[in-house]
Parts: sequence; structure tokens; C-alpha cells
Amino acid sequence: MGSPMAANLVSAGHAVAVWNRTAQKARALADRGARVAASPRECATGAEVVFLCLADERAVIAVLEGREGVLAGLAPGSVLVDTSTAGPGSAGSVDVLVRSVRARFVAAPLLGSRLAAERRELTVVAGGPLAAREQVRPLLAALSSRVIELETAPQAALMKLVVNCLGGAMITGFGEALTLGAKGGLSLPQMIDAIGSSAFRSPLYESKGRQLVENDLAPRFTLALAEKDERLVQETAAGTGVTLPVNAAVRRLLAEGVASGRGELDLCAIAELLFERAGVKR
Ligand SMILES: NC(=O)c1ccc[n+]([C@@H]2O[C@H](COP(=O)([O-])OP(=O)(O)OC[C@H]3O[C@@H](n4cnc5c(N)ncnc54)[C@H](OP(=O)(O)O)[C@@H]3O)[C@@H](O)[C@H]2O)c1
Repeated sequence: MGSPMAANLVSAGHAVAVWNRTAQKARALADRGARVAASPRECATGAEVVFLCLADERAVIAVLEGREGVLAGLAPGSVLVDTSTAGPGSAGSVDVLVRSVRARFVAAPLLGSRLAAERRELTVVAGGPLAAREQVRPLLAALSSRVIELETAPQAALMKLVVNCLGGAMITGFGEALTLGAKGGLSLPQMIDAIGSSAFRSPLYESKGRQLVENDLAPRFTLALAEKDERLVQETAAGTGVTLPVNAAVRRLLAEGVASGRGELDLCAIAELLFERAGVKR
């Protein structure tokens, strides 16, 4: 998700420096006009705004801290924007870290797919101090089609989990429904067509249905990251004393999908796990 967003910032005329742990993945951005930095610190040095787009809250800390970390290069008055799905706990602690170097923090998790990122059709949920949100608005406008603003960083991170709590239930429910029908002899295209004609139709079922029919499990969003999102939902719910029984089952199933060796496949591989368990032939 970071690559297409950085490419869109370059296309909008911004001077962009990039860093990625696996350096090779940043090369294509150099061809498009971005400067490749040797470390997160170098990437942040001299920047008015620094974006993160990382797997999870542990990756965020790994990139921020240490002698070569972002915090070591972040200038006072600059803004750190974290587009990762890292949860409200991370947003709260990153806010404290960023304030300690007199910079400001905006949590800005993303709604939308990789294709949406390429097409500048993402929705960004941005939360943080108003002045910092105002400063990054033109940049967010260059990489998205809509920005939903909230007062604080943890609120933005929580809103992302609200959306993905629902998304987790939708994709696992889709896999179960298809398994029920396939075991009884219905074909995937027939079922996807019927679901698409019902009140339950959704862009998720259209795109993931197409991938399943074509047996295309190349990752748009990995099963491992989907499991991480539902782990964050469970941890956040537990922290506020809420029990989410459907989400607990969803998270367990996604964890089983990762344990089955499908973690780096697309999220829709969860349906494949259910087919396999039911003895459905593809
Ligand atoms: N894909 C989607 O459709 C989608 C939609 C909305 C939100 N998101 C969220 O956006 C974020 C990025 O997702 P993605 O799909 O772009 O995943 P991705 O392609 O797997 O990218 C993850 C990034 O995190 C880096 N990373 C992981 N652990 C690290 C560590 N310990 N230290 C430094 N870097 C580390 C990876 O570096 P390497 O390249 O070196 O592995 C990579 O650059 C995630 O939080 C995800 O939940 C994704």
C-alpha cells in the first residue's frame, strides 16, 4: 500500500524520499522520481511530513526507535502520519513518542484495496490535532478520494478496527456460505451470482468471488495481515471490557488459516481452508 501512495505523492509534484526494510522493493519508486533513503532516520531528516505504512504495531515501533529510526530524524514541528492498521493502543503510544521530539502525530489508517491505492480511490480516516490534520490535508488529498477526520489518533485507529471487525465477519461468512453450497453440488459462479442479486451483495463478495472462481490467491491483502487486524479488534475489545463472540470465532479461523500455511496468500484463501476441511473438490 505504501508504494502506490508514495507514487501518487510523486505524481502530485511533491519531493518524496522513501525507505523500505527490503530495499529492492523501493527501487521502482526511484525510477518514478523518489529519492531512496538509506535508513528511516535519513528518510525523515528534513521532511515536513513523514508517512509510515507498515504491517503492524511492532513494525511501527521498529521503524520509529533506535539510532537509525524515524524519531532520530523527525524535526520539531513536523508531522508523522501513520497509515498502518496498528490499533488505538499503538496510536496512543506513538503520539507520546512523537510529542517527545516536539513533532505532531496523525493516525491515518486506510480503507480500500491496493487497486484503490493505485487509482487514488482510498478513504483515509485521519485523527490527530487539528493543526496537524490541516497541514497534511493536501497530501492526503493527493493519495485518496476521501478523508474522514476525527479528533484524536486513537479514534481514527479505532474506526479502522470497526470497519475491519465487520470485514472479517463478511469474508469468513462468505467462505462458509460457499462451502455449504459447494458441498451440496452448487457451483461457485452460480452462488456468487445469486449472492450478487441479493440484499447482501457487496464489492467484497464481487472481487473475492471473482478471485475464487479464477483460483487467483495472489495477495491483495494477506491472510496474515487480516488475522493481525482481528487480533487488534480482540485486544481492543478486551481492553474496554467488551466481548465480541463472532469476532473471536473469526479471529480463531483466520489464525487457523495462517497456521495452515496460507498466511501470505490473499485473504480469500480462508474459503480454500473451509473447502479443504469440507472435502469440497475444486
Ligand atoms: N493491502 C490492503 O488491501 C490494505 C488495506 C487497508 C489497510 N492495509 C494496512 O496497510 C498496512 C500495509 O499493508 P500492505 O498490504 O501494504 O502489506 P505489505 O505489502 O506486507 O507491507 C508491509 C510493510 O511493512 C514492512 N515491515 C514489516 N515488518 C517490519 C519490521 N519489523 N521493520 C520494518 N518494516 C517492516 C514490510 O517491509 P518488507 O518489504 O521488508 O517486508 C512492508 O514494507 C498494514 O497495516 C495493513 O493492515 C492494507
